[in-house]
Amino acid sequence: MIDQIRVARDGALRRLTEAACSDDVRAVELEVLGRKGTLTDLKAGLGKLATIDEKKDAGRALNEATTAVVAALQTRMAEFLRAERAVLLETERIDLTEITRKPGRGHAHVVTQAWQRLEDVFIGLGFQVAEGPEVETDWYNFEALNMPANHPARSMHDTFYVEHGEPGSTVLRTHTSPVQIRVMQQLEPPIYMIMPGRVFRNETTDATHLAVFHQIEGLVIDRGITLADLAGTIESFTKAFFGEGFTSRLRPSYFPFTEPSAEFDIRTPKGDWLELGGCGMVHPNVLTAGGLDPEEWSGFAFGFGIDRMAKERHGISDVREMYINDVRFIEQF
Ligand code: FA5
Repeated sequence: MIDQIRVARDGALRRLTEAACSDDVRAVELEVLGRKGTLTDLKAGLGKLATIDEKKDAGRALNEATTAVVAALQTRMAEFLRAERAVLLETERIDLTEITRKPGRGHAHVVTQAWQRLEDVFIGLGFQVAEGPEVETDWYNFEALNMPANHPARSMHDTFYVEHGEPGSTVLRTHTSPVQIRVMQQLEPPIYMIMPGRVFRNETTDATHLAVFHQIEGLVIDRGITLADLAGTIESFTKAFFGEGFTSRLRPSYFPFTEPSAEFDIRTPKGDWLELGGCGMVHPNVLTAGGLDPEEWSGFAFGFGIDRMAKERHGISDVREMYINDVRFIEQF
């Protein structure tokens, strides 16, 4: 038995030295240590040996042989795997210069461009820029905007709630209008402010709707502000942003935080009307919530969808295209 073990061990070690690839190593492993392997067979035969001493000696020799073969198997396997991986890396290497032959230089995303251009146009009209938090309290997002709990207008905003504080007290802002209140609380009128930012609604997306999109809010508070000031500002903005061929109209609508309220539509040079946002005269309750006296101050506010503006300005058929991030699309703008 001892001789048979030695023959099996030496044969395995020799074949491992001669192995040319990892498959050869696997074959030796199977033939020696597999279910029907030579050392496995010998181990099974231990029980048939006549004396305890013979069993002990053969058992020890078997363990030593197995340990030696396993160590040699592992060493050879590691060598081959290392070499084979190096070959694989070389053959599967991607030549990145083939993909980006010219050194690419990035540029602002089409929505960022629209955002920046909107700021430029309004700054040119005498406005300043403010920003507010994306995670808002229910009070700023709804209550202070004349939408108390259970107000039916709340259902127009499919709200994402944040688990913070009292249940239902913290939301991802559904519009940029809460920044109106923050601005009124912090600044003395006259106020000529725009407030761009990201907003969130639990909506199913389609060609004109996103669940995460951008708005730009406008707020003017001064003495003696009228609807004519709102209409004039919107018309000047339309021409400055879209071009001389475009014109605007205000269509009666309803928002709890403005009275009267209107939708702002633009007419393209082709004659199509498109809705871009809401606007109106700031409701007295909203002025009060912002800490201003409605007897002394009046103003107007508006809120436009930035993503829809970018869509219309560039003739993009589906807003979702702007967020798929296919460089072939993004590079066009
Ligand atoms: C509002 O959000 C009001 N806060 C606007 C406002 C401000 C009115 C100040 C009066 C005074 P509305 O839900 O209609 O209103 O959204 C305004 C604009 O945001 C829309 O006209 C549209 O351009 C854009 N918008 C709304 N929902 C989406 C959406 N799911 N995806 C992309 N753009 C959207």
